[in-house]
Amino acid sequence: MTKSFTLTNISQLVTNNSALGEGQLGVINNAAITVTDGIVSWVGQSSQADSSVPKTDVGGRSLIPGFVDSHSHIMFAGDRSEEFAARMAGVPYSAGGIKVTTEATRKASDAELRTVAQSMIKEMHESGTTTIEIKSGYGLDVVTEERSLRIAAELTDEVTYLGAHVVAPEFAGNSEAYVDFVVGEMLEACVPHSKWIDVFCDRGAFTTEQSRRILEAGIGKGLQPRIHLNQLEQGDGVAMAIELDCASADHLTYLTDDDINALAASSTVAVLVPGADFSTRAPHYPRGRDLLDAGAAVALSPDCNPGSSFTTNMPFCVALAVREMHMTVDESLFAATMGGAIALRRDDVGHLSIGARANFALLNATSYIHLAYRPGVPLISTTWKDGNVIFTKGDIA
Ligand code: NIG
Ligand code: FE
Repeated sequence: MTKSFTLTNISQLVTNNSALGEGQLGVINNAAITVTDGIVSWVGQSSQADSSVPKTDVGGRSLIPGFVDSHSHIMFAGDRSEEFAARMAGVPYSAGGIKVTTEATRKASDAELRTVAQSMIKEMHESGTTTIEIKSGYGLDVVTEERSLRIAAELTDEVTYLGAHVVAPEFAGNSEAYVDFVVGEMLEACVPHSKWIDVFCDRGAFTTEQSRRILEAGIGKGLQPRIHLNQLEQGDGVAMAIELDCASADHLTYLTDDDINALAASSTVAVLVPGADFSTRAPHYPRGRDLLDAGAAVALSPDCNPGSSFTTNMPFCVALAVREMHMTVDESLFAATMGGAIALRRDDVGHLSIGARANFALLNATSYIHLAYRPGVPLISTTWKDGNVIFTKGDIA
């Protein structure tokens, strides 16, 4: 039997479809949305909603597409709060911290890993995120990478093999041998659970040539590539990432003008993770404004991980993008929703056109601008995924 409901009295409905409403966000004022069997079946003026469908009045609040988080490292155990405190006292961030989490992750049971990941996902739902990519990368051995990905696949369809996060301690000083292992035995074990392959191409992790080898091996096994790039220094990986048609290049704290123009001319999305720049006290934020001005596709993600960015909160990233990367509020909200969907090459999420998945979040605010205007305030009232409530403060009128 068909199941439908309508939300009415939405002050601003952000559809991300400029054919449906005003501006890039396709905003409909005084709107309603109808969901049928988990899919958006109608949007329009509240006064024109089909009277035969059960209605809920949301009390003049704003409704946005659920955030699409295309970059998370939530398969981990352990705590690195001391490292964060030391960093804020002057110790620089380095890729080496990953090994601390690796030690704890290897020791954790499947149940413990699942519990941590589920608690991170709960936080994501509470802050309006409805689509989540999950990476491995804290096992760095076959057994722990494989089980991290197996558990991640229970939790999302967007699973990423990141065996090449850093060189495993057993291979210290022999990164080439570790790359052989990552593209050999480890890849074989991980492919069945994964959709994507990723590599940390940066200082203290892998070179551009090693990264190319790793991504090409994954592509050869049917995985799609994405890449961590230029977080810690200006490298030369952008051309390679584009040549391999990476769905996204992530971090990009260091970019030349040529890199920006190359990304703009490509179908690789720049996934900016300002929470990492914040929590590592990077010397500057990524050049979000310049990327947009050049015409590049930009996404935002909290990059949740226990080392460089221990936050799940997309509204925080929207606020940082506006304040620190000079993106407008509209551009930032679009990047946090549709941008993430494009970075995952998904057309069913990130927008609220007819036929899209009914993934959306109700704000305790009349305007979506409050996401950046009220930083740090938990504004999400209720979150729906596929038409089902997955989080609510219980305050729908
Ligand atoms: O995205 N850059 C590489 N990986 C993570 C950090 C990992 C860690 O420090 O544990 C990131 O920032
Ligand atoms: Fe990351």
